[in-house]
Amino acid sequence: MISKNTIDTVFETARVEEVIGDFVNLKRAGSNLKGLSPFSNEKSPSFMVSPVKQIWKDFSSGKGGNAVAFLMEHEHFTYPEAIRYLAKKYNIEIEETEQTEEDKEQANEKESMYLVSEFAQKYFHNTLMNTDEGQAIGYSYFKERGFTGDTIKKFGLGYSPEEWDAFSKEALGKGYKLDYLDKTGLTIVREDGRTVDRFRGRVMFPIQSMSGRVLGFGGRILGNDKKVAKYLNSPESDIYHKSKVLYGIFHAKQAIAKQDNCFLVEGYTDVIQLHQAGIENVVASSGTALTPDQIRLINRLTKNITVLFDGDAAGLRASVRGIDLILEEGMNVKVCTFPDGDDPDSFAKKTPHDELVAYLNDNAKDFIQFKAGLLMDEAKNDPVKKAGLIRDMVTSISKIPDRIQREIYVQEVARIMDISEQVLVSTLSQIVQKDITDAGKKFREEQKENVMKPVADDGSVQQERVDILDRLERRIIEILLLYGGTEQDFEDVYIKYDKFGKEYEYTERKAYKVYERIYLNLQEDEIQFTNPVFRELYKAITDHYLAHQSLTVDTFLNTLPPELQSVATDIFMQDEKYSLHEWEEKKQIPVKDKTMSVSAYANEHIIDLRWLLLGKLIQDLKMQVSPDADNMEILMAVNDYNTLVNYLSRKISRLRSQFF
Ligand code: CTP
Ligand code: MN
Repeated sequence: MISKNTIDTVFETARVEEVIGDFVNLKRAGSNLKGLSPFSNEKSPSFMVSPVKQIWKDFSSGKGGNAVAFLMEHEHFTYPEAIRYLAKKYNIEIEETEQTEEDKEQANEKESMYLVSEFAQKYFHNTLMNTDEGQAIGYSYFKERGFTGDTIKKFGLGYSPEEWDAFSKEALGKGYKLDYLDKTGLTIVREDGRTVDRFRGRVMFPIQSMSGRVLGFGGRILGNDKKVAKYLNSPESDIYHKSKVLYGIFHAKQAIAKQDNCFLVEGYTDVIQLHQAGIENVVASSGTALTPDQIRLINRLTKNITVLFDGDAAGLRASVRGIDLILEEGMNVKVCTFPDGDDPDSFAKKTPHDELVAYLNDNAKDFIQFKAGLLMDEAKNDPVKKAGLIRDMVTSISKIPDRIQREIYVQEVARIMDISEQVLVSTLSQIVQKDITDAGKKFREEQKENVMKPVADDGSVQQERVDILDRLERRIIEILLLYGGTEQDFEDVYIKYDKFGKEYEYTERKAYKVYERIYLNLQEDEIQFTNPVFRELYKAITDHYLAHQSLTVDTFLNTLPPELQSVATDIFMQDEKYSLHEWEEKKQIPVKDKTMSVSAYANEHIIDLRWLLLGKLIQDLKMQVSPDADNMEILMAVNDYNTLVNYLSRKISRLRSQFF
């Protein structure tokens, strides 16, 4: 980890106008600097930098913050990546904390593996461009596939000669150690000690990280020989984790953020061909099933994914699981297929740009429509199959964390499948309840094993598996840290009875500090967070607010024990992006979505959490029912809680109607 000292020095040294000046053309405007927004296409400048305050604000997108925030937004760096970038720019030596000799060795080893991979990429590219064999075999192959010289350069494509150890010999001769050639899989060390190139007589596709470092390679044979695997890929290594990499992400990241959408394809060539056709917001999963880590990589850039599938049905069925995974991460999924026999590569190659864009626009279907279309034909006259299809759709919907969105999809399925919403809602809540119970069980088991996972050596906390409850609890903590001390108008809906005994809703608006509201609401149910770490943190934060009525994050963090400190920092840092919008206009703090006030945002999460926790409580109580006891007390409690859940459900629908 980078030491606090280094971070302080970086913050003291970095000048926001200099950092941004490397990316945006800035002109003086009074005491500020002005430029065209790098986050949107605009003609008149709405991007301001204040050298006095050391902050920036983009009025076209609402983003803003300090130099680090700019790098995180613009370059999509993580917090430590941004600090490292600035340290390099200002020649600040990075002091690492808690690094043992072993850690250092490992860091050096990884760095060496990066260097070897970089060298290999240059070697293969040079062989492609500047040798007879490379030109005659590799270059002409790429040309035949329709890749231009510019494209070949941009993606750093290469060729590995048809020899036993041409590359290994060259690398060893240049002083690269065999150990690292072996560890990156570029060289295979045989039992008899002989060294052989892994990739021989293949065209080479370098695989790059989000920040552009070469992690590994895919090597394709030149023909269509069915006996040999078409692609050979670098093996898993300390720098190449297949499940965490998306091919093309380095070249696509700006476009993905700008277009606010990411096209997902299967192959290297699909990415490259689409790029060349002017569609740059595209990445590939490299033929394997999409993983949660890969989805999170995209999630850093956009909430929207459009999956592009080849025409064949086998691929389509395999896709269904991938879609649920994307939904689970809270992202929006669309699906677009191509005419029979075409894949994104062949289709992009023969279709003019405008037509291609139009095709993608017109044919990208919502996942519900896609599933319906995919299975409807076989299910139409078969009630059993139709029921299965509906269940399948509802299962997908149950993965969506956002309640409002779930509701909208339920309405859509009801319409498409011609079935009542009520039935769908009750099926949905069954599935959600089951998921929560399962997740709860799994969570408790995991807690037994290890309370918190250690901080990874790149400084980012390892992505833990997050279930719905976990996410909500975390969100509440985030809200407390960011907005806890601000005063907001909250709306309460009470159920009252008129003199005829008929119930009616009565709305009351009242100002609360956000922490008070959260505290009061959760206390009301006497419920506790399920995650023990979050529970501790929640207690520490509310105690602090209760004592001081306000909270300054950095000073507060110092009061925490180390384990909680790292969790709190992580939540604060990761979610800081949203808070950047906070800016000066304190009164009107837009959170994520401009139409939602802090109070509505907090309210929604509080209610969701209460609803879920109560559901869990009811479930737990029901488990306690035993055949040889009087269970009356338990059943009465269940009944009470059910009433409360119903009441909350009403609040939720009331809340929803505010936005739709
Ligand atoms: N793949 C692989 N090993 C194979 C076949 C495929 O690793 N033997 C991966 C590659 O990442 C490939 C992706 O799966 O890019 C998709 O496969 P496919 O569509 O067959 O490959 P394309 O990239 O489209 O290659 P081409 O068009 O040259 O056949
Ligand atoms: Mn292909």
